[in-house]
Amino acid sequence: MADQPTFLGAFPDTRLRRNRRDAWSRELVAENRLRASDLIWTVFVREGLGEIEPVVSMPGVDRVSVDVLAERAAEAHALGIPAIAVFPKTPQELKNADGDEALNSDNLVCQAVRAVKAAVPGLGVVCDVALDPYTSHGQDGLIRDGYVVNDETVHVLCRQAINQAEAGCDVIAPSDMMDGRIGAIRTTLDEAGYEHVRLMAYSAKYASVFYGPFRDAVGSDGNLGGGDKRTYQMDPGNTDEALREVAFDIDEGADMVMIKPGMPYLDILRRVKETFGLPTYVYQVSGEYAMLKAAGERGWLDGDGALMEALLCFKRAGADGILTYWAMEAAKRLKAGQ
Ligand code: PBG
Repeated sequence: MADQPTFLGAFPDTRLRRNRRDAWSRELVAENRLRASDLIWTVFVREGLGEIEPVVSMPGVDRVSVDVLAERAAEAHALGIPAIAVFPKTPQELKNADGDEALNSDNLVCQAVRAVKAAVPGLGVVCDVALDPYTSHGQDGLIRDGYVVNDETVHVLCRQAINQAEAGCDVIAPSDMMDGRIGAIRTTLDEAGYEHVRLMAYSAKYASVFYGPFRDAVGSDGNLGGGDKRTYQMDPGNTDEALREVAFDIDEGADMVMIKPGMPYLDILRRVKETFGLPTYVYQVSGEYAMLKAAGERGWLDGDGALMEALLCFKRAGADGILTYWAMEAAKRLKAGQ
């Protein structure tokens, strides 16, 4: 026992269970706690009026029309959730190879941003920058000679960012993984007078199968047709490369960075937070949500309890906030003291 750190003490003088004996002392020694203000609620928007359409692969998650979203946004705000992130299910007939609908100032996302900001001005609105909800092939960028090209895509992403900023979006979150897009978007926003619009970079975004249900929800899976995104999203086996991605994004002007997916990538989250110490977010992605919900529905585990635990563990691993489909439910449980 010679090389044991002295603070560990020794049994029976030291009994770690003493502090765990009562609820009040467990509370007193708690190192991390989840709060509603840690959550960014990820939501899907669809066309129509009064529409609530369940996403089959994500029990408890709906695609809703803009009017319903505005009502739900008010509820989220009242529960203490600081921001929502909006994703569109673009009607198939509006998709094309270059994703032009992304630049339409009256597209679903822009309508949603305007409606939410009008109804709940104090709620932050985050918009993804990437072309996959708009392209007929489901890739995040423009395809030239069978390859998702970088620089030409970045040019379009800058215009997409401006389009969303004009609609009133507070945070632009590029999820496309093109090189150099953070700097280009920052410059473009500043030149257009949107220097206050924040950038949350999906810095370390992995080519993950955990995005499956999301692609179903925004209707890009069929379009992707079994294709993958490995020429731009990261290899799940890499970790040093994540630090390089984050370093570039900080250099280029990111205000916040994100790790995605969440649960299988807690080591990346920890390394990024420890290395850079800037506001660091994690995305509990659709597949993580779906698997916990599905196991819960089968009675194999307490799905809701598992979701709460997963959210708390993100904080322990270093997250300043978490993007999650479960934000409303989590906030309700937190309010009820559960
Ligand atoms: C689009 C985007 C994706 C997600 C967020 N933005 C899908 C993808 O990259 O294929 C996934 C979110 C989730 O799975 O919950 N670029």
